[in-house]
Amino acid sequence: MENKDIILTGIRANGELTLGNYLGAIVPMVKLQNKYANSHQINMFVPDLHSFTTPINHNDLYLKIIDSLKFYVAAGIDLNLDNVYIYRQSFISAHSELTCILNNFTSYGELLRMTQFKEKSDQLKDNFISAGLFDYPVLMAADILLYGALWVPVGDDQRQHLELARNLSIRFNNKFNQRLFVVPNTWEKQQEFIGRNNGARIMSLKNPNNKMSKSLSDPNGTILLTDNPENAATKIINATTDSVGIINYNIENQPGITNLLDILALLIDEPLEKIIKNWQGKKSYIELKKAVADEVKIFLTNFQKKLLEIDETSLMRKLESSEYLMRDVATQRLYKIQQVVGLRP
Ligand code: TYM
Repeated sequence: MENKDIILTGIRANGELTLGNYLGAIVPMVKLQNKYANSHQINMFVPDLHSFTTPINHNDLYLKIIDSLKFYVAAGIDLNLDNVYIYRQSFISAHSELTCILNNFTSYGELLRMTQFKEKSDQLKDNFISAGLFDYPVLMAADILLYGALWVPVGDDQRQHLELARNLSIRFNNKFNQRLFVVPNTWEKQQEFIGRNNGARIMSLKNPNNKMSKSLSDPNGTILLTDNPENAATKIINATTDSVGIINYNIENQPGITNLLDILALLIDEPLEKIIKNWQGKKSYIELKKAVADEVKIFLTNFQKKLLEIDETSLMRKLESSEYLMRDVATQRLYKIQQVVGLRP
């Protein structure tokens, strides 16, 4: 394997993936693959150990993990490209071992400041806040640092976690006075690389002040990639808006309308500015909703058709060969870290 700059991302497999996951993380990754697969290495993995930081049904987890990989392929991740690697985190044990080491270089205070931790703990029905949920950003840092990824395309909700990975790599390199970890690029640079001004954040259709999320018990606010296209269109038509009566892109005062404009721009891949120009000042919310609903319906119909066409045998073959290679890369980097912390000669 040549030494190429690495673009890496992962999506938890704790449920069906949402339109938020698709627009916030999968689309940027596919675009980057299409642009950079010749010059960069693309790691698109399933962080399966992250799946049960919040409660799930363990009986169908394994199938969900494979389904997630199928979603990547249906979205355009190309299994025939040599520089593209797909793998499952738990199949490469170095992720867990590096997490154990990094835990000792991460402070309680910095994990306590993670807004995702606060939000997710507040949503837990039984109040059982696991150490796994608290420690999850450190495992994410290990996912990134093991491979030396410079580029980590993620949605806006993962910004703090990316910053933790940067801080840990800098802290570690300084402490041991060596360039042990590649420092991932800053959030601003990442957005420039993805070609966005800011990270995408698709909001719930029912509570547009909350992120669209698979772990929220908000089925009408969330569009799943497996939703029936007609039902998904109805969710858009019934989306919560406001009483202003004029279309404006205004996150604070008109979060529902703003969310619809964001979804439309990302879904049809047009610059947001152009979409705003087309719709700003118009009075018919239903016209905007119908336009978004139509696009969602077209997108889901095509996407689900592609899902059915995926050849599982070649998917599994690619998965196993990627895991074989990535295990080697990760184990070698882990060994260097074990040496500097004194665990190996
Ligand atoms: P997860 O599984 O919560 O989300 C996966 C990706 O989808 C993005 N996303 C969204 N983007 C826009 N709007 C939304 N409503 C929305 N919901 C989710 C997330 O920002 C993310 O990019 N910790 C990560 C997974 C992970 C990871 C990693 C990512 C583990 N290790 C290493 C990158 C690198 C997570 O839970 O994402």
